[in-house]
This record gives sequence, structure tokens and C-alpha cells, in this order.
Amino acid sequence: MHPLGLPPAGLEAVLENINLGVVVVDADCRVLFWNRFMVIHSGRLPSEAVGRSLFELFPELSERWLRQKVRGVLTLRNLAFTTWQQRPHLFPFSGTRPITSHLSSMYQNCTFFPLHDGQQEPRAACITVADATDAAARQQELERLNALLEVEKEQQAQLIRRLEEAQAQLLQSEKMAAIGQLAAGVAHEINNPVGFVYSNLNSLRGYLDQLMGLVDGLQTQVQASGNTELIQACEALGQAADYGFLREDTPVLLGESCEGLERVKRIVKDLRDFSHVDNGEWQFADLHQGLDSTLNVIWNEVKFKAQVVKAYGELPPVQCIASQINQVFLNLIVNAAQAIVEHGVITLRTGTQGDCVFVEIKDDGPGVPADLARRIFEPFFTTKPVGKGTGLGLSVSYNIIERHHGQLSVSSPAEGGACFRIVLPTRQPG
Ligand SMILES: Nc1ncnc2c1ncn2[C@@H]1O[C@H](COP(=O)(O)OP(=O)(O)O)[C@@H](O)[C@H]1O
Ligand SMILES: [Mg+2]
Repeated sequence: MHPLGLPPAGLEAVLENINLGVVVVDADCRVLFWNRFMVIHSGRLPSEAVGRSLFELFPELSERWLRQKVRGVLTLRNLAFTTWQQRPHLFPFSGTRPITSHLSSMYQNCTFFPLHDGQQEPRAACITVADATDAAARQQELERLNALLEVEKEQQAQLIRRLEEAQAQLLQSEKMAAIGQLAAGVAHEINNPVGFVYSNLNSLRGYLDQLMGLVDGLQTQVQASGNTELIQACEALGQAADYGFLREDTPVLLGESCEGLERVKRIVKDLRDFSHVDNGEWQFADLHQGLDSTLNVIWNEVKFKAQVVKAYGELPPVQCIASQINQVFLNLIVNAAQAIVEHGVITLRTGTQGDCVFVEIKDDGPGVPADLARRIFEPFFTTKPVGKGTGLGLSVSYNIIERHHGQLSVSSPAEGGACFRIVLPTRQPG
């Protein structure tokens, strides 16, 4: 009888039928015992297995590792195990889940322990093999689903980023459109009165010439009459009205007024050119004209900070949406002026490069630190205080240039200064 009260035959029946591989080997890894589980999964009867080495039966087994394991268990008299995560398929058994079977081999958890023979040195080791295919399948499925979720999460984050970008752009372009419309509206309203004031002023100049001719003629007549009383009265009237001064100053005043009006007319034209409200479509535009009118519109913001040097090359007409390109010029020039600390120079350089044109807007401010060179194009990225910067100028500009199949890049040498370079194809593809 066994100490647990089981007859030896009962124990053997348990060993034989348990849903667990049981193999007993000697120190040389020769099989001493082999239960039904092993028969089913290896396809060999105990009569074929007993007496043979495990490595003969399973040439795929990692011999060095297994011998070491068995020897270790026998000398240290301890229990060892390996899980399916460590050694997924110790014994080369085929999968036990044929239906869902992407798992073609059985996953196994194995234990190794010595078999004591009374007080003597253990001479046999028992290896048990548990089928862990179910757990492994579940785990792998979870991992697969998790990876899918991760991908989806990343896609969503990307989508959110793109939405934010689009919204920021919309916001900015809406603002620009509103400003453009406002500018065009104001320009139109001013244009009419300026027109008639200008024409009236010209008529006035003619009338005044005639009036003065009249007064001069009268004076001459009075002088010629020899009537002292009349001459004196006439001189007194002339002095009272300071006629000499009026005669000199009136043409000067008129000239200045005409000049002022010319300036107003130019500003109105710049506003119209800049806003291009009449023309938000693709057209062949003169980029120099775009730079000039943009510069005039923001002159107020630039003139106290920087001297503007124009190094214009020869540019062919460029196919673009002029109002959008002007918006880019505006963003870059304003940034350059804002970057300059006290007073500096902004250089506008243009030229051609193969089939493309380039426009460079360079300042001699502190420049862009190397670690920020990528980030400055992100929407909402700003280093300016609240109220001063929105962080949208460069991201909007970048997207506009991209839509024109061009490139916007920045270079900032170590000695300071930033140079933003726009490259545009003269003709849009397709
Ligand atoms: N010419 C420049 N020199 C140095 N830094 C610049 C220049 N232009 C842009 N930057 C940096 O890029 C950031 C983003 O610019 P932008 O998108 O126009 O937004 P904002 O001007 O509202 O800050 C700025 O806050 C600034 O740090
Ligand atoms: Mg800006």
C-alpha cells in the first residue's frame, strides 16, 4: 500500500490517464516511463520509447539545455520549471486547437523534479508536460487586439492633430478673408471720395490761377489809373489779406494736397492688391508686386524696427493664389520684424532656381534655436507672450506653400539671424 492509501495499481492508473505528459528519465535522459498523454502526442507506444534516449526520440530537443536541467534537478534535488512564454514548444507536439488553429504547435508548461529512492541519491527525474495552448492562444489574441487598439489609438491621435490643424487654418484663413474683405470694402469706399476730391482739386488749381490772374489784372489797372486814393485803398486791402503770402503759398498747398492724395490712392491700390478679394483664384502673378504691396500694408509695423533691403532678381509670373501668397509674405515679414530686438535689417531676396522661383525673407535678429527649427511650423507653437503671438503664422504659411507644391524652410546660422526660404514652381503640376 502507498502511504496515501492508494494501491500501486490505482496510482499507476492516475499517472497513466492524467491529462498531463509524464515522463520519467534516468540521469542520461533515457526514458524509464512514458504515460498515455505522451503516447497520444508523440505517436509512440511505451514499448517504443522506454530504454531510448529522449534525444533519439525527439531530435529537435535542445540537448545541452535539457541535460543540464535534468542534471541540476538530480544534484540539487529541487524542482524546476519552464513556462510556455520561456520555451513555447519544448516537445514537438502539434497544436490541440485545430479549429481556431493559427497555433500549429502545442504550447507547454513543463516541470522537472527528482524521484527519490529512499535515502539514496536520486537516479531518476520526472518531467511533466502541461498543454498551455489555450492560455497561449488567449494571451496571443489579447496581444493582437491590443496591438490593433494601439494602432487605432495612434490613428485617432493623428486625426485629432489634423483636425486641430485644419481648424486652426480655417480660423486663420477666415480671419484673413475677413480682413481682406474689410480692406477691399474700405478701399472701395475711399476710392470714390478720393476720386472727386482729386478732380476737384485740379479744377480748383485752375480756378485759383484764374482768380489770381484777375486780382493781378485789377491791381495793374488800379496802378495805371494814377488815382492815389484808390491805389492806397487797394494796397491796404492787399496787406490786410496778406495777398503776397497767399499768392506764394496757395500753389504750394495745392501741390502738397495733390501729393497727399496720390499717396492715399497708392495705399488704396495696395490694399486692393493685397486683399485680392476680386481674385481668390489661381492666376499668374508678379511676386515682386505682391511683396511690395504687402510691405506697404504692414509698413507701420516694420518701419520702426527695420530697414528693408530689396535684393530682387528676375522673376517670371508665378501661377498661384496671390492673396494666399501675400498672406505668407505678411506672416514672414511680421515675424522677422518681431524677431528683431532693437533695430535691424530685413532682406528680401528673390530669384529663379531651375523651374522654380525662390523668395527669401531674412532678418538679423537672434535666429531660431536649432531644437525649435521643426516645432515652429506646428500650429499654436509660439514663444511670444500671450496676446502677441498665436503660433499660427508659420503653420498656415507652411500649408499654403505646400498646397502650391512648393517648400517653406528655415535656416538659422549659429551667429544669429533667420532666413525663411519659399520655393515655388512657376507652373502648377496638372
Ligand atoms: N524670424 C524669426 N526669428 C526667430 N524666431 C522666429 C522667426 N519667425 C518665427 N519664429 C519663431 O516661430 C514661432 C512661431 O511663429 P508663428 O507661427 O508665426 O507664430 P507667432 O508669430 O504667433 O508666435 C515664433 O513664436 C518664434 O519663436
Ligand atoms: Mg507670426
